[in-house]
Amino acid sequence: MRFEEIRDQLLGVPFIGVSNARYLYDLIVRERLTNILELGIAHGTATCYMAAALEEIGGGKITAVDLLGKSFDPSPEEQLGKTGLSRYVDIHRMKTGYTWFLHDEIARRTVGDVCEPAYDLCIIDGPKQWTIDGCAFFLADKLLKKDGFMIFDDYSWTFAMANGRRDATCGINHRDLSEDELNIPHIGEVFELLVKQHPEYTDLKVHPVDDWAIARKAGGREKTYTVEYRRERKDAYAMVRDALGIAAHYLVFRRRKRSRCDGRR
Ligand SMILES: C[S@@+](CC[C@H](N)C(=O)[O-])C[C@H]1O[C@@H](n2cnc3c(N)ncnc32)[C@H](O)[C@@H]1O
Repeated sequence: MRFEEIRDQLLGVPFIGVSNARYLYDLIVRERLTNILELGIAHGTATCYMAAALEEIGGGKITAVDLLGKSFDPSPEEQLGKTGLSRYVDIHRMKTGYTWFLHDEIARRTVGDVCEPAYDLCIIDGPKQWTIDGCAFFLADKLLKKDGFMIFDDYSWTFAMANGRRDATCGINHRDLSEDELNIPHIGEVFELLVKQHPEYTDLKVHPVDDWAIARKAGGREKTYTVEYRRERKDAYAMVRDALGIAAHYLVFRRRKRSRCDGRR
């Protein structure tokens, strides 16, 4: 499915923005990445963009993982059904999250003390927390094939940014965090201290505008690290439409949520 076609169908549904979606879609098509691991799916918007890219290159599979008991409106299943892309995705929901899914996956793929890697691309987009996502990086690395890509969303996000709006993020209580843990971007630290120092990872790129970081498991090659402020000319029309769509989505969603709460009183 062409990018413009899937973009128009997903208009306004969080979380991935049009610019990052375009990047992801183009990467999958250009590098022919057919086995994808997505950690953190929410509404399945990024999942749908990636599935559309798989359809464009003739097939593949996304293994997508989220938390059991989290519900999203629309759900990933609804979005995949509506766009006709369900066959490209297997969804797993885990009680304690994706680190235990990665445990199971490593155990399943281990023969004679060697874990057979399975994925060409892994995208980490979950709680944005050092312990969980630092661990997820090392676990996902075992499953990522040579020359595969590892992408992190929320490179510069901090818990302090969310502090005014809520008390907890993805089950992590803000009050339990130290000042440093509140104010230092955890994903930034995972990328700078774990990914960058890992001998297998090179072609490190940080995209501050889109808040993404990407690295390639191309071990043995000279390490490069670049900061890219603009990848391409942005599709301003699509961005404005996306922003309006997100506003409309939240208006409808909040109204629906409010009427559900009112009904319970
Ligand atoms: C920002 S959303 C993902 C957005 C999605 N990748 C997209 O761009 O459309 C983060 C997701 O991570 C999930 N999540 C948070 N902590 C998790 C964990 N420990 N294990 C699995 N999923 C988790 C949340 O339930 C939420 O759906």
